[in-house]
Amino acid sequence: MVTIKTKEEIELMKKAGHINYLTHQYLKGLIKPGITTKYLNDEADKFIRENGGIPGFLNYEGYPGSICVSVNDEIVHGIPSDDHILREGDIVSLDIGVVIDGYHSDSAWTYPVGVVNKEKERLMHHTEKALFIGLKEIKNGARLNNIGARISEYAHKHNLSVVEELVGHGVGTDLHEEPDVPNYGKYNTGMVLKTGMVIAVEPMLNAGTRHICVLDDDWTIVTEDGRPSAHYEHTVVVTDDGYEILTGE
Ligand code: MF3
Ligand code: CO
Repeated sequence: MVTIKTKEEIELMKKAGHINYLTHQYLKGLIKPGITTKYLNDEADKFIRENGGIPGFLNYEGYPGSICVSVNDEIVHGIPSDDHILREGDIVSLDIGVVIDGYHSDSAWTYPVGVVNKEKERLMHHTEKALFIGLKEIKNGARLNNIGARISEYAHKHNLSVVEELVGHGVGTDLHEEPDVPNYGKYNTGMVLKTGMVIAVEPMLNAGTRHICVLDDDWTIVTEDGRPSAHYEHTVVVTDDGYEILTGE
């Protein structure tokens, strides 16, 4: 079932989303060569709790981290580790969940570590663009698959591939609610979006093949060809004439 959130629920989700945004800004300032992915995890955990939230991913279906930290060819669900040190030229995707009074927010962003090569720069630029091109399709009465249709069209135009096995989703009292929000699809198909629905849109674009592998830890998802991947995600609420970002300033 796809739920319509009340004004009060949206206010809570906006609080959760704002702490999510602030956590991103805080972690962004810590990223530099030599730190570990576990350090970012622990700083995020502290920051979220200090701001009155709970990390939304910790123990979710047994996930062991407070956030997901995915480096280079890791697409999503990278488990933070003391052994994983960030190097100059890496790109690092931070996926953060924050819960306030039982309501979730979900947002991901990919950051450079120092100076990165042209391929990674281009990948990050176009994946962030793809997120906003998808979001632009959202308004009361619009069809859900218009989001993915535009994202994949944009990605392919720029010679990037779209991960299909992982999708965006509804957000609310659960991290993952209905509907699924794929990053591909046929324009003018799918359910009709309604004011008050809350969804997370999250394109994952690859420089090479769209195909994925799961590592032996059963969580980390990587590109099959080892080329880099980027991930940008906002949680938004559908409005009468567009959308409002909940995971922002
Ligand atoms: N943002 C991720 C998603 O939407 C959530 C991470 S799943 C977890 O799928 F299990 F790692 F928490
Ligand atoms: Co998500």
